[in-house]
Amino acid sequence: MFNTMTGRHRRNLRLLDDLESRTGRKIYCSDYFTTALSQTHHNQTTVAVHTLGVAVTSLRIYYILKALGFTLDKESLLKSSLCHDLGIVGRNEKFENNRECLKQHPVDSVIAAREIFPDLDERTEDAIRHHMWPCTLLPPHHREGFVVTVADKYCAAIEGVAGKFYCPGSRFLRAMRQDNTVTGQDAGSVLKTAG
Ligand SMILES: [Fe+2]
Ligand SMILES: [Fe+2]
Repeated sequence: MFNTMTGRHRRNLRLLDDLESRTGRKIYCSDYFTTALSQTHHNQTTVAVHTLGVAVTSLRIYYILKALGFTLDKESLLKSSLCHDLGIVGRNEKFENNRECLKQHPVDSVIAAREIFPDLDERTEDAIRHHMWPCTLLPPHHREGFVVTVADKYCAAIEGVAGKFYCPGSRFLRAMRQDNTVTGQDAGSVLKTAG
């Protein structure tokens, strides 16, 4: 029998495995992520779909860097990319303006991540805290933080310019649904309903 699975499909399945890991599931089960599913973000998408796009993009960069011989902490990357904007959940109720939101939401995202992972490691916390750089003063101190920062800007730019249909989170979810891969339960149900 011929193997009809394409390289792209195989790579997407690897990403799906990462997203559906225990770490991912803990985040999807949080109240933050439940609210993120319906909160509009960058005018065109939701916090949840943006978050998934940043995670997918960060993981893609991770695998490229790995192939080039650079070592990164994948667990930290997944955790920080999925938590980086949880502090923006409820923004209209807690921030007076966009400037306050820009400065404060990374701090609140660290608090949210600590609620989900009480033993949050320094590398992950640093990546979340400094993900808005260079809009905020201090850059991240680890490679993982730079990857999340780049992935976040990339996703935000596509979401803002090209719209929801083309944003990395939506494209990944659509590809998985077309391949009938996201049909399961548990974390799969979050990935099934997001977007
Ligand atoms: Fe952010
Ligand atoms: Fe973001």
